[in-house]
Amino acid sequence: MSKIVVVGTGYVGLVTGTCFADLGNHVTCVDVVQEKIDKLKEGQAPIYEPGLEEMIGRNLKAHRLEFTTSYEAALEGAEFVFIAVGTPEAADGSADMQYVEAAARNIGRSAPGRSEQPLIVINKSTVPIGTGDLVGRLVKGNAPSDFNFAVVSNPEFTREGQAVLDFLQPDRVVLGSEDTWASELVRELYLPLEAPIIVTDIRTAEMIKYASNAILATYISFINEIAMICESLGADVKKVAQGMGYDKRINAQFLNAGVGFGGSCFPKDVKALAHMAEQSNTRPALLNAVIDINKDARRLFVDKVVRLVGGDVNGKRIGVLGLSFKPDTDDMRESPAVDILQALREQGAEIHAYDPVAMEVARSQVKGVHFCSDAYETAAGADALLLITAWNEFKQLDMEKLHKAMRHPILVDGRNVYDPKEMRDLGFTYAGVGRK
Ligand code: UGA
Repeated sequence: MSKIVVVGTGYVGLVTGTCFADLGNHVTCVDVVQEKIDKLKEGQAPIYEPGLEEMIGRNLKAHRLEFTTSYEAALEGAEFVFIAVGTPEAADGSADMQYVEAAARNIGRSAPGRSEQPLIVINKSTVPIGTGDLVGRLVKGNAPSDFNFAVVSNPEFTREGQAVLDFLQPDRVVLGSEDTWASELVRELYLPLEAPIIVTDIRTAEMIKYASNAILATYISFINEIAMICESLGADVKKVAQGMGYDKRINAQFLNAGVGFGGSCFPKDVKALAHMAEQSNTRPALLNAVIDINKDARRLFVDKVVRLVGGDVNGKRIGVLGLSFKPDTDDMRESPAVDILQALREQGAEIHAYDPVAMEVARSQVKGVHFCSDAYETAAGADALLLITAWNEFKQLDMEKLHKAMRHPILVDGRNVYDPKEMRDLGFTYAGVGRK
C-alpha cells in the first residue's frame, strides 16, 4: 500500500485517485473548491463517468479514499503526488498553465521538510513539452531547502465515458523522468495493471501524449476529407473505412466519418502542439490542416441540412438528437453540437433538442433551444431530424414512429449510425456523411 495524493478532481484526477485506491493504496484527493470536496466526501461525483461514483463510494467506505482542500494535511507522509488539473486552451492556442503552476507552487509550499523519504511529483496533466522542468523549479522554489523530491511525467490516455475501464486496462503506461529511481517507484504503482510500461525522459513522455492525441485527431480529419470526396464521387465512406481496416497496417477504430471531433482534449491538444511547433520555428502543416478540416466538417453538415430543407432553415423546426461531444458523457466542451446549433439558430431555425445525459449542462451552454424529454418528442413536427451524438439509445429507436411524428421526414445522420437503404425504404429522405 502506498500513500498517494492527487491534486485536481476533474475526471482525470478523480479516476486516477479512485482507481489507485481501488488497487489498495491510500489516496487523498485535493481540490481548492470546497463545494466539490464536500459533495465528494458524501460520495457524489461532480461529473458523469460510468462506474466512477460507485467506485468512490466503495473506497470511501473502506477508508482508502479521502477528500480535502488542505495540501498540508494531504501531503503529510505522502510518497507520491499526482498533478491532474486542467490545461485549458489559452487565447493564443497555447495550453493555459495557471492550474498546473498553482498546484506545483502549493505542493512546494505545503511540503514538510524531509530528508529521508523523498516525494515523487508526477505530472498527469497534458502539458507543453518542457513543463516537467518548470514543475520542478516551482516546487523547489517554494519548498524548504532540505526538501527531497523528483519529478515524473505520466501522461493520461483514458477516454471520457470509459475512463475507469481505460485506467484499469491501459494499452500502455508511459513514464518519463531524469531520475530513474523515481520512475522505477512509479512503475511499481502500475505493476498490478499488467500493462506494457514505457520508461523514458520527461520531454519524450510529454511528446508521446501530444503525438498520440494528434494522430487520433488526424485519423478523424483524414476520414472526413475522404468522406467529402466520397460524397462528390458517389462512394460510401463507411464501407471505405471498413475495407481499409482489414489491412493490418491500418487501424480503423478512429476512421468514423461524421461531424468531427470535439471534447476537452483533441481540439486543444492539436492546437497546442501546432502552437509549440510554431514557437520553435517549425511549420505544423498537417496539424493545421487537421484543425481546418474539423471546422469544415461542422460547416458542411449545416450546409447539408439547409440544402435538404429546401435552401432556407428560417422558421423551420429542426430536431437534434445528441448534444454531448460523444456518447457516455455529459461533457459539451467543444462539442460539434454547439457550433451546429448556433449556425442553424443564426439562420432562423427553431431548435428542439434532446440528449440522454447532457441536458442539464446543455441548458447553461446553448440558449434559445427547446429541450425535449426523448427522441420522439424531438422529432414531433420537425422539418428535419439531425443525429449529432451516437448514443446507443438512438441506434434502437422505433424509426416508423419517428417518421410518423415528423412534419417532413428528413433525417441527417452526423455519425453514420443508420443504414441509408433501410431509412429510405421507411420513407425518410436520408443523408449521412460521405455516403451515397
Ligand atoms: C481522447 C483520447 O482518445 C484519449 O486517449 C485521451 O486520454 C484523451 O483524449 C485526453 O487527452 O484526455 P476523449 O476526448 O475522451 O479522449 O474522446 P475520444 O473517444 O477520443 O473522442 C474524441 C472526439 O472524436 C469525439 O468528439 C468523437 O466523437 C470524435 N471521433 C472519434 C470521431 O469523430 N470519429 C472517430 O472515429 C472517433
